Amino acid sequence: MKLTNLKLTNYRNCQNLEIKFDKSKILIIGKNAQGKTNILESIYFLSSLKTPRTSNTTELINFYSEHFKIEAEIIKADTDISLSILYNKDKKRELKVNKVKSTPKDFKSVLKTVLFSSNDLMLLRGTPQDRRDWLDRAISQIYPAYDDRLSKYEKIRIQKNNFLKECAKKGITNNALLDVFNEQLSVTGSNIIYIRKKFLKEIEKTAQIKHRTISESEKLSIKYDCSFEIPNTNSSNIEKIEDIQWGFLQALEERKIEEMRRCQACVGPHRDDIIFFINNQESTKYASQGQQRTIVLALKLSELDIITDKTGDEPILLLDDVLAELDDIRQNYLLRSINQNTQTIITSVDTILFEEEFLKDVQIYKIENGALIL
Ligand SMILES: Nc1ncnc2c1ncn2[C@@H]1O[C@H](COP(=O)(O)OP(=O)(O)OP(=O)(O)O)[C@@H](O)[C@H]1O
Ligand SMILES: [Mg+2]
Repeated sequence: MKLTNLKLTNYRNCQNLEIKFDKSKILIIGKNAQGKTNILESIYFLSSLKTPRTSNTTELINFYSEHFKIEAEIIKADTDISLSILYNKDKKRELKVNKVKSTPKDFKSVLKTVLFSSNDLMLLRGTPQDRRDWLDRAISQIYPAYDDRLSKYEKIRIQKNNFLKECAKKGITNNALLDVFNEQLSVTGSNIIYIRKKFLKEIEKTAQIKHRTISESEKLSIKYDCSFEIPNTNSSNIEKIEDIQWGFLQALEERKIEEMRRCQACVGPHRDDIIFFINNQESTKYASQGQQRTIVLALKLSELDIITDKTGDEPILLLDDVLAELDDIRQNYLLRSINQNTQTIITSVDTILFEEEFLKDVQIYKIENGALIL
């Protein structure tokens, strides 16, 4: 998959910017606060209709405008496809694929990206929410229906929280209705946990190999840290959905009084975490910053491989300012392990970090104040 043209109108500080991508490696160079991340963010937005920087899409509209537009031309399996997003201040959104109006689900299935930014390097130091977001975003690109499940779970969870608050206010307990919420949460939630665990097993296998190439004597392992106990758990097996659901219902029953007291759902996939180990030692506690970065590097490159394998489409790799944060060994590993054909768009404040060999076949753009300069 290749992005051949990108046009931004009133997207953050890029009021009128058009870039043609002719090569498979593209470098966007610019000083701080010029619009480098904004460009990558807009490409990521085309693939997910989300941005890791905000949940409020209105923030993406240029300060002095009423709407933004992102237009792109891509080549996918030898076919030209055009994409466009128009978003207004009143939150009206128009999505088009090949100039025809599209649903969000169909729109998101066209372009695949893997974004790797300097923030991701903090994944292990971040919150459980950060790690769940990373996992959920990676899975969504492979199983488009996963997003629907997450939204459904979120909706029921919020309804349940509101219900618990209402009960507390009125001083009543309505166990029958609470049981209905819990049953619904257990069905959707166990499905989410099952898919997350399955994906983690897959990514662990690929990431272990990549990780070992950088750190020979270290073994990476990944554990899904579920907020309740799943019966019949065996580390080499993936649990059955029924077992997960049973464990979830059991936990919901046991924590009913606590949930009523706290007026919130205290257990479930929204409380789970992912734990990374190096040689069986928990990385967040013991690994050095460099070791933690190696894990994230291995994870991101594995994400790229898995999406390619599962969907048959090679995603576009977006590297936002990561090189500066890596040492020589990891920089070289990253640049050399990217497949020649993988379209890679890299931002950096300078070309100095890149080897001459790498720069030979790279398209370089300079950006200043949201516009390209010669
Ligand atoms: N809605 C908006 N309207 C106008 N300008 C915006 C909007 N949102 C962000 N900006 C501005 O866009 C500018 C560029 O942001 P961006 O994050 O792309 O910078 P960058 O080139 O990646 O810089 P750095 O090297 O520091 O990461 C910032 O100065 C920011 O204030
Ligand atoms: Mg930036």
